[in-house]
Amino acid sequence: MKNYETDATWYYHNGTKHPNGMLLNRFHVFHPSHRPTPYKIYKNTQHVNLILDKNSLGISALDAISTICDVDDSIIPNLETLARILYFSSGITKKIKFPEPLGEVDFRAASCTGALYHIEIYIICSDISGLDAGVYHFDPKHMKLDTIRLGDFRKFVMDSTADEPFVKQSPVILIFTDIFSRNSIKYQSREYRHAFWDCGTILANTLAITSVHNIPSKVVTGFVDSQISHLLGLDIKEEAPIAILPLGITSQETPVDTTLPEVNIETVASDYEIEYPEINSMHESSCLLTRADVSSWRHQITREHKESTKLIPLAESIKSEESLEKTIIKRGSTRKFSLEPITFKQLSTILSKTTSGIDADFVNHSFLSDIYIIANAVEGLESGSYYYVKERNSLEQLRKGNFRNASGNLGLDQDLPYDASVTIFFMIDLDKILKQFGNRGYRVAQLDAAITGGKMYLASYALGLGATGLTFYDDIVTNFFSPHAENKETMFLIAIGKKEKPT
Ligand SMILES: Cc1cc2nc3c(=O)[nH]c(=O)nc-3n(C[C@H](O)[C@H](O)[C@H](O)COP(=O)(O)O)c2cc1C
Repeated sequence: MKNYETDATWYYHNGTKHPNGMLLNRFHVFHPSHRPTPYKIYKNTQHVNLILDKNSLGISALDAISTICDVDDSIIPNLETLARILYFSSGITKKIKFPEPLGEVDFRAASCTGALYHIEIYIICSDISGLDAGVYHFDPKHMKLDTIRLGDFRKFVMDSTADEPFVKQSPVILIFTDIFSRNSIKYQSREYRHAFWDCGTILANTLAITSVHNIPSKVVTGFVDSQISHLLGLDIKEEAPIAILPLGITSQETPVDTTLPEVNIETVASDYEIEYPEINSMHESSCLLTRADVSSWRHQITREHKESTKLIPLAESIKSEESLEKTIIKRGSTRKFSLEPITFKQLSTILSKTTSGIDADFVNHSFLSDIYIIANAVEGLESGSYYYVKERNSLEQLRKGNFRNASGNLGLDQDLPYDASVTIFFMIDLDKILKQFGNRGYRVAQLDAAITGGKMYLASYALGLGATGLTFYDDIVTNFFSPHAENKETMFLIAIGKKEKPT
């Protein structure tokens, strides 16, 4: 199976490194007038309007992101709850007018590289209150569901996940898919990393809002890709399923033996036909081809705990009552940080509340990434570089000193990582992950980091701070944190600080 020929990942990963990856054209430019329509539009389908209640249910954002819902009673979301889950994951939360040619841009609940919004969400469900069993596509622009198939098709998802136990019991299953060209038009073949980053930030929101509703869920990354693509009617040259999130619990049997004809619904063609064959080949190399492949692939791993010295215990977490709904609605990537410090309590809260882990088919209530930090300005913490020792809820100081210049440099020489109070890097021993999971481990590692990164966005905003995801110069990050980070690759970067007040 190609999945275990992991040279493919190294070829893609090294080739898409900034600044000199050989799969990237350094002179590529993206003009905003070429921004593709950020919505998949189905023509002539039946649809179901979603009625949205944006009110808060009274659970704080910090509790929502740090709680993994563990109920095992029957929990079946109804249409109203589904509307909230979809909206707070990927709905339009604000509109901003820019000068032409960009004009008005819809911004969404979760951050997304370049605001290109290349992740779509599909819903596969049994009959639930307010919605007939079917396969639907979420249209955030019009807050409606496009009907793709009517009938209970969960059996096909079960099959494709080799009867993953959580999928087997769920009345509602979300499937997150990626449309390559919508993002590669700007970011070239680095897009395939972004697919997992931008799916991860959405998933952070989805997990939080489902936790507010007390709906258990599990991130499933092992499935037969072609079966899911067929179920959803995806164009496999241009689109790919990224992750599956079964929601809730039902004891109702899933019907067997539904046939699966082709999906024959016309969609509005993509604005541009752009091909980056490296994206397709990285995707294909990490596909699981059969149910048996999925069964033998699936296992959960545990974080490695390295003994550390000179530990600085985190401070007690701040209690913020701000609701998840309010936090998501006000979230937006900070465009300018002030140079003012955040407090050690704020940093501690962000680290503690975002790292309780996720329930996934690759980890059990845990996460994979190693977290490295540059503290530029944190009141109560010496400036320097740090490693977060999750198991001891502490920081290990790697080097002390003023590293603002390095912080700015590692974050692609942008002002944001220079001005921010902290920059937080998610790194991983990629070789080890690939040995465990083959090329699909690359997907898992990127997604895992982005989910925790997405939670950090929410935690920062819940505390009244600002945050932004950032891209980075890959190898320079590894060098900066070495020898501690030797052999580790960077998966995600977020900068956090105080937003500069408008003058
Ligand atoms: C993984 C990731 C990387 C990003 N990288 C950058 C970056 O390098 N520079 C930048 O200015 N913004 C960056 N952003 C911010 C996006 O441009 C921003 O999320 C997008 O414009 C949507 O806006 P919003 O987050 O305010 O909703 C990044 C966002 C994410 C999620």
